[in-house]
Amino acid sequence: MNLCMIGTGYVGLVSGTCFADLGNKVICVDKDIKKINKLNSGFSTIYEPGLDELIKKNYNVGRLKFTTEIKKAVSQSELIFICVGTPNKKKSQEVDLSYVLKAVKEIAKCTKKKKIIITKSTVPVGTGDKIEKILKKLKKKNIDIISNPEFLREGEAVRDFRFPDRIVIGSNKKKYFKTLKKLYQPLINKGALFFTTSRRGAELIKYASNAFLATKITFINELANLCEKADINVQDISLGMGSDIRIGSRFLRAGPAYGGSCFPKDTKGLVSTGKKFNTELSIVKSVIKSNENRKILHINRIKKILGALKGKKIVFLGVTFKPNTDDMRDSVSLKMIPYFCNKGATITYYDPTGPKSSFSNLKNCKYIKDINLACKNADLIILHTEWDEFKSLEFNKIVKNKKFKIFDLRNLYNFSDMKNKKIKYFSVGRPDII
Ligand SMILES: NC(=O)c1ccc[n+]([C@@H]2O[C@H](COP(=O)([O-])OP(=O)(O)OC[C@H]3O[C@@H](n4cnc5c(N)ncnc54)[C@H](O)[C@@H]3O)[C@@H](O)[C@H]2O)c1
Repeated sequence: MNLCMIGTGYVGLVSGTCFADLGNKVICVDKDIKKINKLNSGFSTIYEPGLDELIKKNYNVGRLKFTTEIKKAVSQSELIFICVGTPNKKKSQEVDLSYVLKAVKEIAKCTKKKKIIITKSTVPVGTGDKIEKILKKLKKKNIDIISNPEFLREGEAVRDFRFPDRIVIGSNKKKYFKTLKKLYQPLINKGALFFTTSRRGAELIKYASNAFLATKITFINELANLCEKADINVQDISLGMGSDIRIGSRFLRAGPAYGGSCFPKDTKGLVSTGKKFNTELSIVKSVIKSNENRKILHINRIKKILGALKGKKIVFLGVTFKPNTDDMRDSVSLKMIPYFCNKGATITYYDPTGPKSSFSNLKNCKYIKDINLACKNADLIILHTEWDEFKSLEFNKIVKNKKFKIFDLRNLYNFSDMKNKKIKYFSVGRPDII
């Protein structure tokens, strides 16, 4: 099939490339000319395992193209996927739909032919209806709008696209289920559930899924607080609870607050949808509050571990919100690092995906690209992101300051090992080793 992706970010680039790899002809459009130039010169614009090879392979055989010219792309495509961002509005929890609506108007402007627009962006309940009204106003009766929310996770996006648990299609016109089933047939053949529902149903499934996962994380994070006070290992609680198949073990690992480009904005987006429909979503509201409090809780704990912050050398291992991605959106480090710098601490950070522009203006903060050098003079090492390369470090050998401490936000290290090595070790939901 001939497809076009509007927006070539994490979702548009991965799904566009993977659709091409399934034999479709795909044109990825982005208004950011720098992104398109980089992609056209053979480089991926994001860090995502396995993606570079797939881009090269499909680009070289001509199944995958990158452009800033929306008109040509739309005119050559039967299915047009909207993959632009849907952030929260600056001053409220509401979803900013301006990128989506602008994209719809641009699409409408450049075609007179029959087209199907598909929202892959995460959009609140009723967005499809809103788009339908706009298209009606523009007298574009031959353009239909359906919903196909995306569930891929950054860091595992290629795998997630190829082996999805489910493919959700929301349309009020049944004929489109057939069209989308044809597109997704190779994935359905491998066992993916093809699930159809109303357009509003599909829109809500995405928010409900993200809010539920955020709730699960927040639940175990709050229990970790209790464990720290009650001398219990939260990992035992996760295992004891998670082995009940009604509960399940995934998303039950205590750690920092959840972050990233989806959970923070989608929990807020769901609450604002609730408001619109006069429905109180008190659980999700509490989750948002608890998650925000958690960042302050960690900052206070670090203050307690270090005593005064002024002049202390704090090392962050990893700054992205999760491993295997370069995405910094809503990462906990964005709150911690500027705070510690402000209080006079010196921050050194290492991240496998390189230095981050978010910290480039901070006076006491520098990126070091050698992990051993970064840790050498540390007073405190914060294990912030769960990259594999942080999992078996010989801290006693690489840190020269004998009084160094570790705060392991991911519980990466074995508790008794740290005790045997006499390392002052603080983790999440487990007793401190002082
Ligand atoms: N990132 C994820 O893991 C993930 C997973 C599932 C769903 N989603 C949802 O998918 C959507 C996109 O997320 P993302 O992380 O890929 O965003 P992103 O910010 O990485 O990419 C969006 C891209 O759209 C481009 N864009 C904006 N308006 C445009 C226009 N009119 N024409 C052409 N290009 C335009 C931007 O330049 C940008 O490159 C969001 O709604 C998000 O919630 C994201």
